[in-house]
Amino acid sequence: MAEKITLKKDTQSIDLEIKDATVGPSVIDLKSLYPDTGYFTFDPSYSTTASCESKITYIDGVKGILEYRGYPIEQLAEKSTYLEVAYLLFNGELPSSNIALDEFRSEVKQNMTLPENMDVIFSGFGKEAHPMAMLTTAVAALSGSYHEGIDIRDKEHQKEFFFNVLGKMPILVANVFNHNQKNANVEYDESLSYSENILRLFFGWKDGYEINPILSKALDILLILHADHEQNCSTSSVRLTGSSGTNPYAAIAAGVAALWGPAHGGANEAVVRMFGEIGSKDNISKFIDKAKDKNDPFRLMGFGHRVYKNYDPRATIIRSQCHKVLESTGNDSNPMFELALKLEEIALNDDYFVKRNLYPNVDFYSGLIYKAMDIPKEMFTAMFALARTVGWATHWCEMMSNPKHRIGRPRQLYLGEKKRDYIPINDR
Ligand code: CMC
Repeated sequence: MAEKITLKKDTQSIDLEIKDATVGPSVIDLKSLYPDTGYFTFDPSYSTTASCESKITYIDGVKGILEYRGYPIEQLAEKSTYLEVAYLLFNGELPSSNIALDEFRSEVKQNMTLPENMDVIFSGFGKEAHPMAMLTTAVAALSGSYHEGIDIRDKEHQKEFFFNVLGKMPILVANVFNHNQKNANVEYDESLSYSENILRLFFGWKDGYEINPILSKALDILLILHADHEQNCSTSSVRLTGSSGTNPYAAIAAGVAALWGPAHGGANEAVVRMFGEIGSKDNISKFIDKAKDKNDPFRLMGFGHRVYKNYDPRATIIRSQCHKVLESTGNDSNPMFELALKLEEIALNDDYFVKRNLYPNVDFYSGLIYKAMDIPKEMFTAMFALARTVGWATHWCEMMSNPKHRIGRPRQLYLGEKKRDYIPINDR
């Protein structure tokens, strides 16, 4: 028998069912609340609302735990690869053999080409256009090529969409990069890994370009760390958009658009801009004061998280990767990295940040790695989007495979005018 919680007001009372999670907080099932009481719940930023059932990713923000399909992020970052993690997210289990993983890899690679008419999408943008503007448009444009004949309820069609978007995203992101940098596009190389191919697609036009294995490993780890993060803003955007039954590529475009904001994926670009603005360790305390000043809109970018009230486990891994990457590029005494370490140390010892549980998040150090790879800061959020595509696509497939799923339709607390009569303009 499921446990119940009783809600009482005056003489009225209602029993609401409690649903237990495998691990983590149980939820109160509110489906009978409005029909039985006439009340809605009010949770404008969804801080305490579980919007769906999911089996993909688990986060304990207080303990700083992140798991994909039950596997701790630390183990996956150390021992796995991005495509194996993609397999895990999509299928729910790790591949049972190298053959299964190779088949998966080859399905992704088969989709690493763009429809012919995509060139005009990029050439229509000015060279200064922000990469996220181009990427949102380019992903949405895929819906033009893949719409007729898609049955979003059909498992095989869902799978085709998954492999198609996973294969095409690196090509789209590389096209965006090459358009901005005025570089020639390069073909992917069958013999390379997913991450090696990304570096090749970006820099392969350079004479004698050789992939640095430390950089491709670091990139692979960044992709793993960004692959999914349960019902965050962009994933919820994909689910809500997709819940209407729209084209899945259009739903992913909604996720890319949501990710762009500085409170979400756009923070990685904002962090490196902030480091540039701070300039030197001597100015840190001035910026810490600005972040604490409630009359100043400035926030310490890359700090704080809606869910993590502890160190973001992804930031710990990225910080140690940062050391390795900077060492390999002969830049271990990188002034920006030194500044970031000092800023973190000062903030973590400041009462304001301690009391509010504000710790470095995934975006605090990631930009420094991309920068060391010669990827410009405007591209950072596009790199995040590339990695998160597997999460978005997996969530979309999970939602579409749930026969109980309905269109998402939140309600509101209406605070507008009560009914009034229209008065003709000359009588007002
Ligand atoms: N700098 C200064 N103060 C902060 C910061 C910050 N980065 N983050 C939160 N606070 C304060 C905030 O002013 C509030 O103080 P008070 O209680 O006195 O009003 C308190 O901490 C709680 O903040 P909140 O805005 O209610 O928290 P939230 O859960 O709505 O916002 C956040 C989470 C990530 C948007 C926010 O921490 C932030 O703006 N951080 C900087 C942007 C950033 O790094 N974003 C990347 C998030 S991780 C990548 C991803 O998963 O998307």
